[in-house]
Amino acid sequence: MRNIRIALTKGRLEKYAVNMFEAIGVDCTELKDKGRKLIFKDDKSGIEFVLVKSADVLTYVEHGVVDIGIVGKDTLMNQNKDFYEVVDLKVGKCMFALAALPDFLDSQSYNVKKIATKYPTVARNYFRNKGEDVEIIKIDGSVELAPILGLADAIVDIVETGSTLKENGLIIVDKICDISARMIVNKASMKIRKERIGSLIEKVQSYVDNNQG
Ligand code: PRP
Repeated sequence: MRNIRIALTKGRLEKYAVNMFEAIGVDCTELKDKGRKLIFKDDKSGIEFVLVKSADVLTYVEHGVVDIGIVGKDTLMNQNKDFYEVVDLKVGKCMFALAALPDFLDSQSYNVKKIATKYPTVARNYFRNKGEDVEIIKIDGSVELAPILGLADAIVDIVETGSTLKENGLIIVDKICDISARMIVNKASMKIRKERIGSLIEKVQSYVDNNQG
């Protein structure tokens, strides 16, 4: 019987996930002392973890080589992939927002607005829902620079504490949606490994209910 394979994202979410899986009885010793290794097995619980970049969690889960993924809603929203979203872990909380320099609100220009973002799909869907035609400019980081340097009129980005916006003189124009970490499952795995995955989902959900209530 193959182990249940779970993809974790490196970084902040990884730490939370490790604590969570330990609390529900998975031995994560190897994962905590990992060096440069990327795959970790706990044969006793029949679970193995792989460490990947957040966008790649979806790729591995969609292809079914990984059964379960722990990943931010921001990543899920920016890719049109097929999976079940089963638990809201209620951590890694932040939001998607439209932000700009304060004079954006006074601007009367009828030109098509330029929107810089690391999340083109999210931005495109947001403006499509508003019925507004915009030009999306894909940026890979430090998106706040775009309106300051005149590359874009506004940005669609993640806001957590709000410090990056504040320190760069930008304001929130509109809150788009809340974000938190999610547990996702490959659709075929859910059928083939129904009992083991079902029991894992229950344990994770009750961990979240008791810890993040
Ligand atoms: C993210 C996001 C904002 C910042 C928001 O960037 O794109 O820039 O964090 O956090 P805050 O509201 O707490 O200031 P990240 O740290 O991933 O860096 P990047 O811009 O280089 O992608």
